Amino acid sequence: MTKLVQISEILSGKAAGAVRVRGWVYRHRSSNKMAFIILRDGSGVIQCAVAKDKVSKKEWGEASSLYPESSVVELEGEVHKDKRAPGGFEVRVGKVKLITLGKPFPINKDQSVELLLDKRHLWVRSQYMVNALKVKHFCGKYAREFLDALDFIEIQPPLLGKTECEGGSQMFEVKYFRDKAFLSESGQLYSEAVIAGYPKVYVYAPAWRAEKSRTPRHTTEFWLLEPEMAFYSQEDNMKLQEELVTYIIHKLAKEQPQLLKAFGREPKELLAVKPPFKRLTYKQAVKLINKAGRQMKVGDSMGYEEEKVLMLKEKAPVFVTNSLRTHKPFYMPINKKDPETVNDADLLAPEGYGEIIGGSERVWTEKELLDNLEFKKMNSEPYKWYIELRTYGGVPHAGFGLGMERLVRWVLKLPTIRDAIPFPRTINRLTP
Ligand code: 4AD
Ligand code: MG
Repeated sequence: MTKLVQISEILSGKAAGAVRVRGWVYRHRSSNKMAFIILRDGSGVIQCAVAKDKVSKKEWGEASSLYPESSVVELEGEVHKDKRAPGGFEVRVGKVKLITLGKPFPINKDQSVELLLDKRHLWVRSQYMVNALKVKHFCGKYAREFLDALDFIEIQPPLLGKTECEGGSQMFEVKYFRDKAFLSESGQLYSEAVIAGYPKVYVYAPAWRAEKSRTPRHTTEFWLLEPEMAFYSQEDNMKLQEELVTYIIHKLAKEQPQLLKAFGREPKELLAVKPPFKRLTYKQAVKLINKAGRQMKVGDSMGYEEEKVLMLKEKAPVFVTNSLRTHKPFYMPINKKDPETVNDADLLAPEGYGEIIGGSERVWTEKELLDNLEFKKMNSEPYKWYIELRTYGGVPHAGFGLGMERLVRWVLKLPTIRDAIPFPRTINRLTP
């Protein structure tokens, strides 16, 4: 039997002569003598030409009436160089095997946002989605590579629990036998326990937020990369973030330039991003946001629109530090120099994209933690174990969380983070 090859092998010149290829019909046109099947197999796309007089009557009947994206075929033929064919090669077909005929594909000219979400199970096969998912894959891979080289270990926190991390009102409650539990909104609290045994850990896991925000950067389920480090100050923490983000985007620019270009992102724009990143305090940012024409006063939270205004003209990420204590979670320590603020930093992506990372130092003494829980009017009962981390061997420490879809959105200039998720979950969408 003729050798089955990947289309990419033909396009790169590795496979020549007689070949067998199989995949989905990407485009299709036929006249009364010739059928052109543009075939895709996930590795590439190639033109396959079927001449009526070179195949049986049955094969011709099948090859000349196929549905793009819906029909699946296996073809055997000879590889020829052909300048007119996309990619420069053509397979001149001698044998046609129909695997699936299918039906007219429901996604064609109408590509409204709603239709593409309703038909997500079919849309994920599009070049657009596959390319975005590839970039997300590489972001995760490079992030792990970077952290592993610094001797981090990846750990797995529970994804069901009793404690809130970023705010109880936005947690999903699930029935847990006779009790109730919450879906994790962050692995951070558990990482804080493990760093007393091994000082540098990270979690790359899903996070859930019952947020009602309908913005291009919120979904109810997303992937969070969270490093946590013993003995790190906020300064060390920010340095690690700058280096991590730079490593990921530079590596993308060098190793995946074609993927970036497919989204209109020039690799050199990413290569121009270099640490150290600019730093602003929340209060300085408020001034700049007003200057840029959006009214905001100290005390208002910095939301999507404010960050957009602040970051519109920036070309590299910017840290916004020292947020108000009232805006931030219980685990952030008070900034001694300005006690209404905390030792935290958000990293905002340039070109108007806004927050991609949230991070901070952590309260590490028992007393300050109890004070903070009280300040936030939180029940300390579920945090008994978390408080004990301070009682037994507490150390200064810090960490951060990088929203992977947010990073991909900025890097690829996507209209929404939903495009970086195969099956997005939002307020009114749980299917497909
Ligand atoms: O700023 P957040 O809430 O911080 C934490 O979860 C900390 N526990 C992280 C840590 O210090 N270990 O979330 C971190 C990041 C945000 O900067 C954003 O990129 C992303 O998670 N994120 C979301 N992404 C998509 N949809 C949502 N609803 C998101 N909420 C946060
Ligand atoms: Mg945040």
